[in-house]
Amino acid sequence: MSDNQKLALVVGGSRGIGKACAVRLADSGFDICLTYRSNHAAAEEVKDLVEQQGRKCELMAFDIADREQSKELLEKRFEEEPPDVLVYNAGIARDNLFVWMTGEEWDAVIDTNLDGFYNVVHPLVFPMLRAKSGRIIVISSISGEVGQAGQVNYSASKAGLIGAAKSLAREIGKKKVFVNVVAPGIIETDMTTELPKDKILPLIPLNRFGKAEDVAAVVNFLAAEENMYIQGQVISVNGGMAT
Ligand SMILES: NC(=O)c1ccc[n+]([C@@H]2O[C@H](COP(=O)([O-])OP(=O)(O)OC[C@H]3O[C@@H](n4cnc5c(N)ncnc54)[C@H](OP(=O)(O)O)[C@@H]3O)[C@@H](O)[C@H]2O)c1
Repeated sequence: MSDNQKLALVVGGSRGIGKACAVRLADSGFDICLTYRSNHAAAEEVKDLVEQQGRKCELMAFDIADREQSKELLEKRFEEEPPDVLVYNAGIARDNLFVWMTGEEWDAVIDTNLDGFYNVVHPLVFPMLRAKSGRIIVISSISGEVGQAGQVNYSASKAGLIGAAKSLAREIGKKKVFVNVVAPGIIETDMTTELPKDKILPLIPLNRFGKAEDVAAVVNFLAAEENMYIQGQVISVNGGMAT
């Protein structure tokens, strides 16, 4: 990377919201480092889209629930030169009514969505503090803001992310590292294909489901806007579903 070229690390950038963030940030002039778990073909597709915009794109495959692997790979790549922007976006859902929820369903979601925050953000914080700059954008969810039946595990993980981000924002704002949260509503991605859309649509004042690009637009604002005085905030992108 040249001295002036900015780099955005998009965690979970191979599909859905992360893919839209990678493409949108590339359009804003960022080189991209994109992480994913296992979908190599999807990641290669996003790399092509980023490169078509004249930007560089690196790929890193690892499981954010794996603390050792995350630390090793992220420290090796970013210890000397942290990313300018980190979009912590990867996440999973394992929905079930709590009364039927298995320990595996609980653990999978908490280990990935919430422990993943520690596993990914912790190795990058010290390099960002040393650089005295950086923007961390955490993707939570409307479920973390207001709760959702059938998503006790997921809502707990996403509410946890809000608490983590708000606290980190208070710790590191003085060093000019910004930490903010984006909380999407129902966005049309692989994650939401099974939802009963006919039942949900009447609950959305804008009368449409969100697009990944709707979320990416807000992420791009938090990543690229030069006049920045937003810290520790949750910005909801949900078509008015919860206010
Ligand atoms: N879609 C919605 O309506 C909605 C609403 C609110 C919040 N969100 C949140 O927004 C984020 C993105 O959602 P999405 O709908 O775009 O999801 P998606 O289409 O299922 O994509 C998930 C992304 O995360 C990666 N990922 C999943 N588990 C991982 C792991 N253990 N380690 C590393 N990477 C992993 C996937 O990599 P692979 O391609 O390799 O699997 C993929 O890039 C999630 O945090 C989700 O909770 C989504």
